[in-house]
Amino acid sequence: WLRSIRWVPEVDSTNRLAKSLADQADRPTPMLIVAKSQTQGRGRLGRSWFSDSGTLTFSLMLAAPQLAADRTRWPQLALVAGLAVCDVVGEVVEPVAVQLKWPNDVYLAGGKVAGVLIETAGHDNDHVVIGIGLNVATDLSKAPAEVQQRARSIRDYADHPVETFAVLPEIIDRIAVRIADWRTDSAAIANDFSKVCLLRGRRVAIDTAGQTLEGACLGIDGDGALRVRRDDGEVVEVRSGEVVRWSD
Ligand code: BTN
Repeated sequence: WLRSIRWVPEVDSTNRLAKSLADQADRPTPMLIVAKSQTQGRGRLGRSWFSDSGTLTFSLMLAAPQLAADRTRWPQLALVAGLAVCDVVGEVVEPVAVQLKWPNDVYLAGGKVAGVLIETAGHDNDHVVIGIGLNVATDLSKAPAEVQQRARSIRDYADHPVETFAVLPEIIDRIAVRIADWRTDSAAIANDFSKVCLLRGRRVAIDTAGQTLEGACLGIDGDGALRVRRDDGEVVEVRSGEVVRWSD
């Protein structure tokens, strides 16, 4: 499935590097960029992403022929990628549960174990870069206090040692399978997402377009939007935003 692979010993951000290669003809897609060390990892909403030598950091770049014809569906790839990572992490840490916090944070034992950053690239915005950071053997005791509190690392939950790059082939396979399914049937994501949805049935507070929305989370719809029932009974579909609080 992959048509080019670039392994870099050190890079500021694999997403930035992937984007810079988007219009080069000698870099066929799907293209994988994997970094041994990433020094300025980027997160969603302008945040940074902490990583050490135990963190798997990579970007996968896809072009229009590998994507859905309808571009408005491309942002759903964030959920597709999150599901693929969730599948693989779940197999490694079994029987510990792995869940997805909408839209695409992978949660393990109450903390975030992986994040996904989707960006468009290319002169026509006709490429999508899926950046994934996964704490495989990350030593969180060296991370900033806030990260230590909120993050989890697979190595603290697996009953066997896990090498940083060992899960990468499986994740790529899972992404390839899930993208193929998603191209033909977007409703399948909503079904699979609901099985691992961290927020469904909980009270949530979401920052969306500068406002905070509160209510009961009903799960996601077929487009990947989060459905929330406000206290006045109205059901709202949130397409982008950040869930800042949720009940236990
Ligand atoms: C988030 O949860 O905010 C998303 C984090 C995404 C981090 C990954 S690490 C590989 C890729 N390159 C980046 O600069 N960011 C993503």
